[in-house]
Amino acid sequence: MITVRVPLGERAYDVVIGHGARSELSALLPRSAQRAAIVTQSGIRLKIDPGLPGERFEIGHGEEHKTMQSVESLCRGFASMGLTRNDVVVSLGGGMVSDVAGFAAASWHRGVAVVHVTTTLVGMVDAAIGGKTGVNLPVYDHLNDRVGGKNLVGAYWQPVGVICDLDALSTLPARELRCGRGEMAKYHFLTGDDLLAMGEAERIARCVQIKADIVAGDEREGGRRALLNYGHTLAHALETETNYAIAHGEAVAIGLVYAAHLAQRLGRISDERVQQHYEVVSGAYELDTALPKVASRERLIALMGLDKKVLGDGLTFVLDGSNGVEVVAGVSPADALAALEDVH
Ligand code: GLY
Repeated sequence: MITVRVPLGERAYDVVIGHGARSELSALLPRSAQRAAIVTQSGIRLKIDPGLPGERFEIGHGEEHKTMQSVESLCRGFASMGLTRNDVVVSLGGGMVSDVAGFAAASWHRGVAVVHVTTTLVGMVDAAIGGKTGVNLPVYDHLNDRVGGKNLVGAYWQPVGVICDLDALSTLPARELRCGRGEMAKYHFLTGDDLLAMGEAERIARCVQIKADIVAGDEREGGRRALLNYGHTLAHALETETNYAIAHGEAVAIGLVYAAHLAQRLGRISDERVQQHYEVVSGAYELDTALPKVASRERLIALMGLDKKVLGDGLTFVLDGSNGVEVVAGVSPADALAALEDVH
């Protein structure tokens, strides 16, 4: 078992990674807790025992259930079971479950402890770590086109512990694992580590450690935390434009090679470095990198202009360069459009 500490002062917590890590769950719960509300989804095969009485709540599958209504319904459930501020919410599932359960925990009685037992690779290397919680709120433009809405309402609410039980990975559908590999691929470019040389547990733990270090230095994304969005600017536009037919991790895979081409066009990296992106994303992780068919590439540029990261004029991206990956503002829409043509 590997334990990674997320060093956030009084709110520091452990992430336990390994086969059978769920056996550590009761050790992560607050001592004050007398009841546990387990928030999960149908079809989650990992069985957990928090060692406390409580109730189990299920939320629906799919982005359309990542809503304020789901949070309200959970809070009504917490009320009827008498969940107090001393008790605990345990999320059991992937990123959607930890986001919704985490936001319900942040809101219930203005904040009750939450432990995430994460069952997907995306959850382990990203969603369950760092305290981002939230739900979608669809937003439309004057032509009634959907222009965004993902994770628009939420809170930073750090868990008191996270379990990454690797036993859960063998139960995942192939597409879900692909999505995790898309999110994992970004870590290859955030540090100089050779993640491919590591075994599964060590590599997941290293991704958690990289994220923990970034979150510890910038919990509320005033600076470096935005680097965790490497590959995400195009990815979010693709998700919106395809109405989520393309899944997040699949979109990040394309977003990573796109960001490399854009950086190369801007003279920040060499062709060889672009090639390294393809070697990780499509070579090692066997992910598709071609752009999906979209009605209009100009619309992708417009959607990227609505990204939460945008600072001032032009577009804002996280781009690789001689100083490593950094936030770059003022990218021209013409360069951004040209780089879309390079993606293959
Ligand atoms: N998923 C990016 C972050 O947690 O900041």
